[in-house]
Amino acid sequence: MDMQVIPARSEDYNLKDYQKTRENFKWDDVNKHFTWNETGKVNIAYEALDRHAENPAKKDKVALLYSAPGREERLTFADLSKQSNRFANVLKKHDVNKGDRVFLFMPRSPEFYAAFFGILKTGAIAGPLFEAFMEQAVRDRLQDSEAKVLITTPALIERVPQDELPKLETIILVGESGVAHTYIDYHREMAGASDEFDIEWVNLEDGMLLHYTSGSTGKPKGVYHVHNAMIQHYATGEWVLDLKEDDVYWCTADPGWVTGTSYGIFAPLLHGVTNVIRGGRFTPDDWYETLEKNEVTVWYTAPTALRMLVSHGEGALRKYNLTSLRHIMSVGEPLNPEVVTWGLKAFNLRIHDTWWMTETGAQLIVNLPTLEIRPGSMGKPIPGIEASIVDHEGNELPPNQMGNLAIKEGWPAMMRQIWNNPGKYESYFINGWYVSGDSAYRDEDGYFWFQGRLDDVINTSGERVGPFEVESKLIEHPAVAEAGVIGKPHPERGEIIKAFISLNEGYEKSDELLEEIRQFVKTGLSAHAAPREIEIRDSIPKTRSGKIMRRLLKSWELGLPTGDTSTLEE
Ligand code: WTA
Repeated sequence: MDMQVIPARSEDYNLKDYQKTRENFKWDDVNKHFTWNETGKVNIAYEALDRHAENPAKKDKVALLYSAPGREERLTFADLSKQSNRFANVLKKHDVNKGDRVFLFMPRSPEFYAAFFGILKTGAIAGPLFEAFMEQAVRDRLQDSEAKVLITTPALIERVPQDELPKLETIILVGESGVAHTYIDYHREMAGASDEFDIEWVNLEDGMLLHYTSGSTGKPKGVYHVHNAMIQHYATGEWVLDLKEDDVYWCTADPGWVTGTSYGIFAPLLHGVTNVIRGGRFTPDDWYETLEKNEVTVWYTAPTALRMLVSHGEGALRKYNLTSLRHIMSVGEPLNPEVVTWGLKAFNLRIHDTWWMTETGAQLIVNLPTLEIRPGSMGKPIPGIEASIVDHEGNELPPNQMGNLAIKEGWPAMMRQIWNNPGKYESYFINGWYVSGDSAYRDEDGYFWFQGRLDDVINTSGERVGPFEVESKLIEHPAVAEAGVIGKPHPERGEIIKAFISLNEGYEKSDELLEEIRQFVKTGLSAHAAPREIEIRDSIPKTRSGKIMRRLLKSWELGLPTGDTSTLEE
């Protein structure tokens, strides 16, 4: 194959020799970077904050460099350590104990980060929810997790169906509200709380995070992560993010998604590196401005964002001074080779693709700074990770053959459970392999190439959407009889959501009706889950057992051969 490779350019990356490190590596080697290795006392919040706050050389270093329209703040490691202590005391006052689920449903703000670490300091499990979720999405997650406490804002509280959440004991509101007496006021409680707190020491295998994510069937599932994940957050922070003491790091992902916690919070702070937080919505100029103003050196973002920058034109970029930037990474969707080529020209830097999932907790297959990049490839497994391509029985396939991308089970950041659903957890593993559901192949040199999903999960602008959730919402609308939802390829967003529906008797097709149905999903579930296209059909194809045949819908949409339709209902 004729292919342009992009060689590495610098000698001073943290990971010098991939092969050698890989051959000799044991995960236990990373333990020496943690205090618990000596004290036996474990808590990820201690390693990410308090350890630095107790270090005279580090305590006044900026941990969070926060900006949003109309608000800018810098919090040092000492500040954030104290603020999270205060919040942990607030939670204790409201009877939060180890293992309780405490959810956050709010935009990025200094209060969010104080609360997030406060939760971890009590030994409770944090559940961050994306701020764009609407009532249904919020309800599903708070019900399934049996959350005891929720931290949210006056603007978002109306999306919390309190009557249907019997386990939810306490709601803490951040910001002015006209009904403060019914809720706990964040700022008032914080003002009255001590900034000292006896952190709850836990075990490496104790829970710290629940991230809800979508599959192709059923409701979103709670992916359960434990403190032990810090080992891999730290190691990848060193090898893949290539973090160094003086870096200014920016990860654009919201903490409602796993990238926003593993790499938007833990990896940089475990390394004691200054972490840029940008709240609000972004335009391409906001991105450039944030990079320039904060003199960002290491930037972790997503293909959708990069494609947006490409279509915005190089002229826009040239208005900014981005010379501080030295390292760029991408995650969440396939990174088009054209974007890598553009990045080389526009930033004079390589863009490093990284592959992983909510379930894997941390990066697994990556373009390492020290290795050559083959544009279009996700790269190679990091040291400590064995990846392969397997068939449906878990047998390894030879190079260049497409199959299911699989990881040899047992890496530090791997999920430990699907909340409330042990059977679901087991179903991820075959023959000692964690089977990802992504199809890919491996070339002769060990580079992995992503090909698509093997199930019906949709990836729109890097956000995972389950078709079942959208279908369930659609059929709640009185006009909709049946619904089938697919991902349709889109040049900028990767995929958009397309819904096929049939109408109940008495409803006529009209543009107004379609828009109403779209809004129904948008305001009921979430904006990113609302179908951009809706097509009305007389009926929706189903199997004899009543399952929507999304694959057939997709073939029709793309004009592809329909394959085996023997299970199709009459
Ligand atoms: C997709 C995000 C191609 C993939 C961290 C995976 C990717 C799903 C890449 C996980 C990549 C992630 N190239 N596809 N570099 N990274 N994906 O759980 O289909 O939100 O299974 O985790 O995104 O999405 P999730």
